[in-house]
Amino acid sequence: MKRLLLCLALASLAPARDLDRIEKLLEELTNAHGPSGFEGPVRAIVRRELAPLATRTETDGLGSLISVLEGPAGSPRVMMAAHMDELGMLVKYITPDGFVKFQTLGGWLDQGLISQRFLILTRKGPVLGITGLKTPHVMGQAERTRVFERDKMFLDVGATNKQDAEERLGIRPGDPIAPDSRFTPLNDGKLYLAKAWDDRVGLGVMIEVMRRLKQNPPPASVYAVATVQEEIGLRGAHTSAYQVKPDIGLSIEVGVASDYPGISMDEAQERVGAGPGVFLHDSSMLPNVKLRDFVAGAARDKGIPLQYELLSGYGEDGAEMQKVYGGAPSINISVPTRYLHNHNGLLSRADFDRAVDLVTEVIRRLDAGAVQRLKSFD
Ligand code: CO
Repeated sequence: MKRLLLCLALASLAPARDLDRIEKLLEELTNAHGPSGFEGPVRAIVRRELAPLATRTETDGLGSLISVLEGPAGSPRVMMAAHMDELGMLVKYITPDGFVKFQTLGGWLDQGLISQRFLILTRKGPVLGITGLKTPHVMGQAERTRVFERDKMFLDVGATNKQDAEERLGIRPGDPIAPDSRFTPLNDGKLYLAKAWDDRVGLGVMIEVMRRLKQNPPPASVYAVATVQEEIGLRGAHTSAYQVKPDIGLSIEVGVASDYPGISMDEAQERVGAGPGVFLHDSSMLPNVKLRDFVAGAARDKGIPLQYELLSGYGEDGAEMQKVYGGAPSINISVPTRYLHNHNGLLSRADFDRAVDLVTEVIRRLDAGAVQRLKSFD
């Protein structure tokens, strides 16, 4: 009887249906671990997907993957960028008792780090740990409402001491640490729950755009660039943009949804399910205004709903494409997402599909004449 109940409980959590091709791709991309500087597993997936669709594939000296779909001779160079890295941490040191202290990578919230499962990616394989949180049993009223600071946090990997953590588990200083959270269609509805939507959803969009462009080649040479180290300062976009030398830059990113309790339109403006977004302001760049109108025109003609986003924080790879050599018109196109930079984000399949439609249509329209007009300030 007990066993039957357990089976029923487990069954209720399993997806009620098989995942389709896009869901399987998004599942693989988000489940893969790639903290900034350790994007290898994600790069392998993107390379596998894009190599058959591209004329050639190369990397830059920092590790960004550049897949080129050559257009007609002399055609403009359109660079799409989506970043492979996710928020993570690095092992700093192991205490004599075998607890792991860490250095964060990327913009974590202290409250998002605590009492969570993480995987330490050691040379012996992944090691599961939890950021231990002191029990309220021993806390006074004031301490119960206090935020715990990251410097006091540690990972508990169940080691008996430092030597056990080093020798049995293979943990070393500098080992990357990634959030442990699995892709799930949330209650079999239209929203997908996963870690690392920032920016695996951008990679998914880029892959599907390249699939469509391969079928029906555009008038431009398209450079699909999966960048490294975005979360620690747009570093991969900087180097790869110099390698590509784009005429136009299209950053594909997560948008900040503000459609849940406790967040307001003053902070962010996108809603999940209301279509892709276009950034009009963030702390790293302003979009080219002609390109902004060009994207809006493509959306209007194709009946794709479009949202706008103006954020006071947030940086993205478009800022690097925009500033390369003499400068290139650039824009950030987004898939609205809830709860970014935490273990679990939520976004909608409809927004993903419409973002693929939009970016594909924009690139189809970027012939030499259109690019010349976009680059002209006369
Ligand atoms: Co991002």
